[in-house]
Amino acid sequence: MDEATTPVLEIEDLRVSFATGDGTVDAVNGLSLSLEPGGTLAIVGESGSGKSQTAFAVMGLLARNGTATGIVRLQGRDVLTMPEAALNRVRAETVAMVFQDPMTSLNPYMRVGEQMAEVLVLHEGLSKREALARSAAMLDAVRIPDAKGRLRQYPHEFSGGMRQRVMIAMALLCRPALLIADEPTTALDVTVQAQIMDLLADVRSEFGTALLLITHDMGLVAETCERTIVMYGGRVMEQGRTIDVFADPTHPYTRGLLDAVPRLDGDEGELRAIPGEPPDMANLPHGCPFTPRCPLAMDRCGTVQPPLEPCGPLLRACHAPPEAVA
Ligand SMILES: Nc1ncnc2c1ncn2[C@@H]1O[C@H](COP(=O)(O)OP(=O)(O)O)[C@@H](O)[C@H]1O
Ligand SMILES: [Mg+2]
Repeated sequence: MDEATTPVLEIEDLRVSFATGDGTVDAVNGLSLSLEPGGTLAIVGESGSGKSQTAFAVMGLLARNGTATGIVRLQGRDVLTMPEAALNRVRAETVAMVFQDPMTSLNPYMRVGEQMAEVLVLHEGLSKREALARSAAMLDAVRIPDAKGRLRQYPHEFSGGMRQRVMIAMALLCRPALLIADEPTTALDVTVQAQIMDLLADVRSEFGTALLLITHDMGLVAETCERTIVMYGGRVMEQGRTIDVFADPTHPYTRGLLDAVPRLDGDEGELRAIPGEPPDMANLPHGCPFTPRCPLAMDRCGTVQPPLEPCGPLLRACHAPPEAVA
């Protein structure tokens, strides 16, 4: 297959469910996407909407009580049906993930240089010396001052923002074709957040890495990602080019998320959170999960799930007329 045109990630009708004591929880219900090499895509939605489980399904990291069905291809290779050993190899070759908490990926008891070098020795067969040199270069690439000296330090000797940079450096060591960043800046203050997002954009263009950004923050999406998928209650509410989603959203949930983004001019007069609580995934309505909080809800919304259908340049799942979503 032609590497230049094969998507790095393709998902068709992904469903993730969990067996629990209270019955089955359907965390993801029919998500499809395609991400081309070097491309950028965001999955956005409030807490509990199914964003992380989508990523975990791609990575083969679902909890034991979870099952994924549908098709997930990494560089054309179907990973859901792959034996674990083969999946581990494909994963190591193509995809890396960064999390909200860097300590999820960093070992607190090992010097940063040691843990970075270990990855390169293991996966790329470099000598220890070459591996340390490449690790220093990577710390440098993520703009950590005094990269060489920093190799000898432990994770706790780095500030929160610097630790996030170390995690991104670790993730990029083996030059993955795809980086999945799950709420990478949520724990950081606003200034450091902006620096990390800038850094992600820089390293992406430098290494040609595709980015799947997972966030609850609509504000992060606008500048970072070409395409956006808006999720709620495990379902795709709206999907398309970010520019179209922002200019003319067709789903009341997207409208609500956009109204909750602080404005750059500092005028918070219009800022309002969506009223109500995120859904109880164990007790979703039969129809659209957003029904109980939706300002445009009609009778059938709570009983008939609207299909995801083209609406202008976007795809959306909503019974309300798009003109009503102003
Ligand atoms: N191991 C599990 N067992 C049962 N339910 C789970 C499990 N892991 C996640 N879930 C359910 O999946 C839903 C979606 O989770 P997640 O994708 O992590 O949300 P988010 O959009 O905040 O990343 C959660 O609301 C939770 O109910
Ligand atoms: Mg999450």
